[in-house]
Amino acid sequence: MPHHERGQWGSRVGFILAASGSAIGLGNIVFFSANAYKFGGGAFYLPYLIALFVIGMPIMMLEFGLGHYTRRAFPESLYKVAGKKGEFVGWWALMNASFITLYYITILGWVMGMFAGAAGGLWKEATALTGFDMPSLGNPHGYFFAMLSSWRPLIFVVIVWGLNGLLVRRGVSSIEAAVRWFVPLMWLFMILLIVRGVTLENGIQGIWVLFTPDFTVMRDPAVWQGAFSQIFFTLSLGFGVLTAYSSYLPKDADNTNNAILTSLMNCGFEYIAGVAVFAILFAFAIVPTASTLAMMFFVVPQGIAQLPGGDPAIIGFGLLFFLLLLLAGLSSSVSLVEGLAASVIDKFNVSRRRAVTLFCVFGTLGSAIFTLPHVVNPSLSDNGTLGLTLLDLTDHWAFSYGLLIVGLLECLLVGWAFGATRLREHLNKNSHFKLNVIYDVLIKFVIPILIIYVLVMAVKSELAGLYGSAYVPNFSETFSWLAGSPMAVLLIWLVVTVGLAALFTFKGSYPDEGRDS
Ligand code: PHE
Repeated sequence: MPHHERGQWGSRVGFILAASGSAIGLGNIVFFSANAYKFGGGAFYLPYLIALFVIGMPIMMLEFGLGHYTRRAFPESLYKVAGKKGEFVGWWALMNASFITLYYITILGWVMGMFAGAAGGLWKEATALTGFDMPSLGNPHGYFFAMLSSWRPLIFVVIVWGLNGLLVRRGVSSIEAAVRWFVPLMWLFMILLIVRGVTLENGIQGIWVLFTPDFTVMRDPAVWQGAFSQIFFTLSLGFGVLTAYSSYLPKDADNTNNAILTSLMNCGFEYIAGVAVFAILFAFAIVPTASTLAMMFFVVPQGIAQLPGGDPAIIGFGLLFFLLLLLAGLSSSVSLVEGLAASVIDKFNVSRRRAVTLFCVFGTLGSAIFTLPHVVNPSLSDNGTLGLTLLDLTDHWAFSYGLLIVGLLECLLVGWAFGATRLREHLNKNSHFKLNVIYDVLIKFVIPILIIYVLVMAVKSELAGLYGSAYVPNFSETFSWLAGSPMAVLLIWLVVTVGLAALFTFKGSYPDEGRDS
């Protein structure tokens, strides 16, 4: 069976832009700030940096190296290095990633809705929404939930899926064309925001919160789980997308260097985003109390609503903030769609057009689930609508567990079945920066042990009921049945990801040709 033309990145810059475009996303601009805040600002700092150097960078090298060595997307590349069990892990990772893609795109739909609102409606007097607890300053709160409790986000979800379809329709060439604009613009917008943030009175103080370490909190395993999952998510690890991206590189590519560059750019962006967000929050004495999404949809806008300079400044920075989120999010979501498209095209020999059309149709349906508008919890402290509640629950399993599980398995497969040394030798072949045996030790022992430790601690606190109990009291009576939903969503997530992964693994077979060099 002949393979479809796979394509190749036009230049190294194009690849770095695309990989950093994938890495830099909503995770950098809001999830990081929200996590850092949740875990006490500076307390997050050290676990995060340790996670970056000990886990993030080595695994990024692994994922890049794997794609480059096999020149195939994730499942087939794992098949080539570890056989059928490897392939199953690859598909499972992609199925887990698909769950994340579905809600990632829903969130992008909301971002688009807020962008439209930032031109005017968002800042106007809030329309009285019964049951909603209006904050005293600014109205983004009310606007966001008014939007969420309508069907409007569905339209935006259709648009965002359409845009994704357009951007991956020609694979790397259309992605590369888009990221050449998106990524530089993102940096520019971020710099404008940070300059505005730190030049506000008291803005600088916010930054200290981010940089003052707190060693006592570091004894809490939850902080480590938070830092580990954040590193996986923000660096786009455990999704299989970076392997797909590096499979389109020329033979002499320097993967070690690419990984160092991409991860440093990503985490640099993340830190300056944190500085901007914290500066704005502190300047206006805003204390974020709610979830991650609240940070992006009303806490930051609430700060923007108070910027000096009147309407032009407020509307200008409001539009800028949501446009930044949109560009960052799109350059990430295309990589998710591409990671899956490349894998399906590689194995089932379908045309790219067909694969992408299919994903967009099913994707839109899936993302629509998270736009369900019924109001579940009027107190707005966390779960506002049915869709948002489901999103939170899905995120809990796919993000906090799924990515770590993939990370663990890929280290075991590549480290033990294929051989960490073999991978390192491949990486070193074209790299100026030569990895030594410490790399093998990290992949084979250190990373798996750390991930297992964090997972075990997480399951322990899960069994102690910490997670479920956070939700139960908040449901209104009509939706009390949702109290059992963490388990229901866990079951659906497990059955669907394992089932589909098995189906993809055992249906069809790869042309038995080894490495096509
Ligand atoms: N890294 C992206 C972010 O920080 C999320 C993402 C992961 C995107 C994997 C694509 C693939 O938002």
